[in-house]
Amino acid sequence: MLANLLPLFADLPLFPPVASKQAGQIDDLYWFLVAVSAIMTAVIFIGVVGFAFKYRRRANAHPTQIEGSTVLELTWSILPFLVMLVMFWWGAELFFQAQNPPKDAMEVFVTGKQWMWKVQYPDGTREIDALHVPVGQPVKLTMASEDVIHSFSIPAFRVRHDVVPGHYDNLWFTPTKPGKYHLFCTEYCGNQHAGMVGWVYAMEPREYTKWASGGGGEGSLADQGEALFQQNGCSTCHLLDQQGRCPMLRGIYNKPVQLADGRTVTADDAYLRESILDPNAKIVSGFEPNIMPNFKGQLSEENVIQLIAYIKSLSPNTPASQQAGGAPPPITPSKGARAASAANAAGGATSGQVKQ
Ligand code: CUA
Repeated sequence: MLANLLPLFADLPLFPPVASKQAGQIDDLYWFLVAVSAIMTAVIFIGVVGFAFKYRRRANAHPTQIEGSTVLELTWSILPFLVMLVMFWWGAELFFQAQNPPKDAMEVFVTGKQWMWKVQYPDGTREIDALHVPVGQPVKLTMASEDVIHSFSIPAFRVRHDVVPGHYDNLWFTPTKPGKYHLFCTEYCGNQHAGMVGWVYAMEPREYTKWASGGGGEGSLADQGEALFQQNGCSTCHLLDQQGRCPMLRGIYNKPVQLADGRTVTADDAYLRESILDPNAKIVSGFEPNIMPNFKGQLSEENVIQLIAYIKSLSPNTPASQQAGGAPPPITPSKGARAASAANAAGGATSGQVKQ
C-alpha cells in the first residue's frame, strides 16, 4: 500500500525506522492524510487557475449569472464528509488500540526526572536512559514523573505519551525489528531537556532472556518493595494475615475496595499510589482517617513502584505477566527469575549501569 513507498525514503533521515507493530498502521493513516491533503490541494489549485483563465475579464463582456446547483452543493458536502468519516474511524480505532494494552503485556516502569529516564524491570534490574525489550512481545510502560511534565517518545515505534507528575501514564508497543532506536523527551522540561535522551534496545527473545538473566542486584522489584515495607514501618499496621489498624493488603490487588464514603474503587496501581502518598484521600470502609502518615516527599516514585510491586506479589490471582515478582511467561519463568536475581546479587546491575 502507501507504506510500500517508504523504501524510497529509506536512506533519507526523513522518516524514523518502522520497528513496531503499530508503526506501520500509524504510517498508513499518516500517508492517507497526506494523500487526501495533496489531492485536495491539487483540485483547489487547478480550479483557481482554470477558473481565473476561463472567467477572465474581457472587453465589454456581460457575464451570465449562475444561480447555483443543488447537485454540485450536495456533492461537495457529502464527499468530503465521507472522507472525513474515514479519517475519524481510522484514527479512533488506532487511538483506542493505543489506550488498551493487551493483558499479556510485559510490564516495565519508567520514571522521568530532570533530566533522565529511570527504568525499572519486574526482576529488579534498573537502568538509566536505556530500555531493553524483546521483539514480538507486547510491552506496557507504566510511567511516573518525579518533578515536571516530561514526554516519553520512541519515534521508531510511533509511540509518545506525556508523563505528568501526580499520576501514572501508560503506553504500549510490540517491537518487531531488533535494533537500537532513539528515545526522547519531547516536552520542554528545563535547561537540560535536550539531554534527556537515550536508547531503546529491541532484542531477539533469546538474547533478551540472556540479558535479563542478570537480574537486579537488590532482588526483584517486589523484594525491594518488601524491604521498604519493613523499613517504613508499614508492616506494623498492615498485617499480612489479619486485619490490623490498617487494611490487610494480601489479595487486594485489582480487587474492588469499599470506601468509607460509600464509593467502590478498584485497587489498581493508581489507587495504591494515591493511598501511599496521600492516605486520607480515600479511606477504606471501617477504618479511621489520619492513622497512616503522608508519604508524599518521603518516598520517590521509584520507591512507590517497588511498594506496589510488593503489594501485587501478595495477590496470587494476578496473572503471572502482571505479577511484580515474575517476568513475562515466554521470556523467563517467574520463580527462576527471582532465584536467579537473588543468586546474582553480587554481580548484578546497579542503578545507572547499562547492561549489554
Ligand atoms: Cu524531560 Cu524534556
